[in-house]
Amino acid sequence: TDSWISVSALDDIPDDDVIGVSVNGHPIALYKMDGEVFATDNVCTHGQALLSDGFLEDGEIECPLHQGKFCIKTGKAMCLPLTDDIQTYVTRVEDDQVFLRLG
Ligand code: FES
Repeated sequence: TDSWISVSALDDIPDDDVIGVSVNGHPIALYKMDGEVFATDNVCTHGQALLSDGFLEDGEIECPLHQGKFCIKTGKAMCLPLTDDIQTYVTRVEDDQVFLRLG
């Protein structure tokens, strides 16, 4: 569906950091950078690691397992060992709640 789903309070995402949430059973990583919120799949495209356990710097999330990096805005895989980009999701903030669309 293309409906907006409430996924987090804005304040629950620390500044310049990442948290993991479950959206309809789907693991999603939520990032806050310069007051803006971005969302990607949480499971790395390379292996069984959660990007929310990784390290956010300069708009890139570093996977905790093999240090691959994705751009959090585009999902683009920025370096080896990553070869596949990660899915991103459109987010919206309204009344201090974060919404996203899975579809
Ligand atoms: Fe993420 Fe290998 S599992 S880089």
